[in-house]
Amino acid sequence: MSVSSTQSIPVCSDIPRHLAIIMDGNGRWATRRMLPRTAGHMRGVQAVRRVVEACGRQGVEYLTLFAFSSENWRRPQEEVSLLMRLFVQTLEKEVGKLSDQGVRLRVVGDLRAFEPRLRDLIRAAEDRTQHNSALQLTIAANYGGRWDILQATRQLLLSRPELLTQPELLDENALSPYLSMAYAPEPDLFIRTGGEQRISNFLIWQLAYTELYFTESYWPDFGAKDLQAAFQWYANRERRFGRTSAQIALQP
Ligand code: IPE
Ligand code: IPE
Ligand code: MG
Repeated sequence: MSVSSTQSIPVCSDIPRHLAIIMDGNGRWATRRMLPRTAGHMRGVQAVRRVVEACGRQGVEYLTLFAFSSENWRRPQEEVSLLMRLFVQTLEKEVGKLSDQGVRLRVVGDLRAFEPRLRDLIRAAEDRTQHNSALQLTIAANYGGRWDILQATRQLLLSRPELLTQPELLDENALSPYLSMAYAPEPDLFIRTGGEQRISNFLIWQLAYTELYFTESYWPDFGAKDLQAAFQWYANRERRFGRTSAQIALQP
């Protein structure tokens, strides 16, 4: 179960235990090359493969990738359909390989909005890889941080209706087991490619004390070298979790 960064101080090392990425810039990558935006999404899948392999080599335990936000349905219908097809094709093509590499795959988000075929593929991929432990890969799809907090609250209230009359019993420990990534520690490092410096409704609860790294590189160009640069930056951060530098210097 996840250790809360506001309740205790996580053990940190130079390589993030949990890396969360907003894979942004596919559309601009393509537009720059006079290609349709969809070409950028297709190239983006190759970057996913590179980053999964590099994270495995580097000893990252949890990798979480934002693939489709709860607000991405607002995009043109052709783009949304292409993204769904790409999701299906990628699952069909890649799950065997991921499984051989020891990757455990999970998908978080409101999956009810997806076609039954995609939902079945997701379930099958999760089942097939459930005993793997080399790298815990989570794809956030139709995911929104606000949705996550709300769905967790609804589940909590259903299981503990007494909270309605005793709201003082509601604390982090009560709610956090119902968040969709309760199985993972909070992200140590967040990377957003594509130059924007915003969270776009990603893991808003879990990012409370995460180090935030932004790069201008578009996602289809992102690879092992860029990951290395982010890790180097991360290794030089002083993670204080509310304490002072002097206190940290005194740590054994
Ligand atoms: C990220 O790239 C992929 C998804 C949101 C699905 P974008 O498609 O947002 O690319 P830009 O930001 O328009 O360049
Ligand atoms: C965030 O990117 C979502 C994903 C990468 C899946 P967006 O491109 O949708 O974010 P905004 O709209 O620029 O904030
Ligand atoms: Mg974008």
